[in-house]
Amino acid sequence: MIEFLACPRCDKTPLVEGDGAYRCEACKIDFPSIDGIPWMFAEPQAALGEWRGRLQFALQRLSFDAARLEAELGRKDLRPLARRRIERYRKATESHRRSLQKLLRPVDVQSLQGKFETYLALRTRLPADQALNTYYANVHRDWSWGDEENKASLQQIRAVAQDNADLGNVLVLGSGASRLAYDLHMQMDCTATIAMDFNPLLLLIAQAVMRGETLKLYEFPIAPKSLEDDAVLRSLRAPEVVRAGFHFVLGDAMRPPFAAQSFETVITPWLIDIVTEDLAVLAARINGLLKKDGRWINFGSLAFSHPDRARLYSPEETKAIVAENGFSDPYVSEATIPYMCSPASRHGRREQVFSFSAYKERDADQPARHRALPDWIVTGKEPVPLTSSFRSQAMTTQIYSFMMSLIDGKRSIKDMAVVLEKQKLMTREEAEPAIRSFLTRMYDDAQKQPGF
Ligand SMILES: C[S@@+](CC[C@H](N)C(=O)[O-])C[C@H]1O[C@@H](n2cnc3c(N)ncnc32)[C@H](O)[C@@H]1O
Repeated sequence: MIEFLACPRCDKTPLVEGDGAYRCEACKIDFPSIDGIPWMFAEPQAALGEWRGRLQFALQRLSFDAARLEAELGRKDLRPLARRRIERYRKATESHRRSLQKLLRPVDVQSLQGKFETYLALRTRLPADQALNTYYANVHRDWSWGDEENKASLQQIRAVAQDNADLGNVLVLGSGASRLAYDLHMQMDCTATIAMDFNPLLLLIAQAVMRGETLKLYEFPIAPKSLEDDAVLRSLRAPEVVRAGFHFVLGDAMRPPFAAQSFETVITPWLIDIVTEDLAVLAARINGLLKKDGRWINFGSLAFSHPDRARLYSPEETKAIVAENGFSDPYVSEATIPYMCSPASRHGRREQVFSFSAYKERDADQPARHRALPDWIVTGKEPVPLTSSFRSQAMTTQIYSFMMSLIDGKRSIKDMAVVLEKQKLMTREEAEPAIRSFLTRMYDDAQKQPGF
């Protein structure tokens, strides 16, 4: 395993192994292991602090939910079925809280030094929208009810890789709950398989089931089919213990902690359209990880999301970008497959997935190390740029905070509109609908059902 790893700060390889941790002698930094999984973030202690913060946040929210459900159960007007449903859900919430705490014990340690500043300086912050539970539902598909979907996924890889292909050393980037990485390793010709993700919950669950454990965890379907389907206790297990040669790594795909040209195959399942980095940059990084004649195999959606329309790539542009970054013209296969169709949910998708395989033909210019934040945030010394979006956000925030300050339990929307007019912020006629729609949003937010 050590032969694949490199320092995510300076790219030095090999690292020094000792006591289950890895050390970069050039940076004088240790990368700890989390239940045996190397924790390869550029500032490991700060990343640990961030994920611990996310865990604490998730645990607090579950406690808050349980207390709220307890309060609901105190209502005299509940119908018997509603009471039964809420009682079950409260128990599930509490059990889920305990399970999370247990599973994530390896992450829930005090970080040794508070190094948030260095973390910022290295610009390796985790995306704010990646919570602990962002892909939690995937663990149930991967290790409980998802046979059909899991088979269809592997089938897509076979469709572009050829059935009996020798995949060599394989890196799966953004492996999530890691069933596809497991199936590849067990059913295709892989020498070693490395499954990497930045979410410790997903990898700790994957590691436990692949070692042969059965985990009992609740699934919380978004559109329950029946009364008892809003929290379903599932047994998660792997078909068999994973064979030797399978490894997990915790790290960031935009700072991949691997030695250059280490892999014969890099696989990106459902990843290229969700990372914040532009596809061309990701393609060049993947090129750098591959040996000459190695292969990039992609599978999943093409649903790019970015404020710049130029970055919402079509299949044609995606192929062109891959080829521009040192790869052969990608061989593409498209198929419509079921996606997250839990048997306990009325909700599920069918998705036309876009799979390709492309050979590395030449080295691509390697992009600079990923920087999550601009200098004016990191150093605090440069002027904060007055962009047009900051300008309009400032104006809106000012008006919203003024509206909030007018809530005193006595004023009506009409009274508030009069105040806004007096302050010369807008006319009464403009103010009334503006306040109404703002308060509607605030009201909706307050009603939103929290959930895992
Ligand atoms: C849509 S899920 C797909 C999961 C899995 N590949 C599958 O097919 O079910 C995307 C995964 O990528 C991971 N991910 C997103 N950005 C990442 C990054 N920058 N570095 C590492 N993992 C990342 C997420 O944690 C998540 O597990």
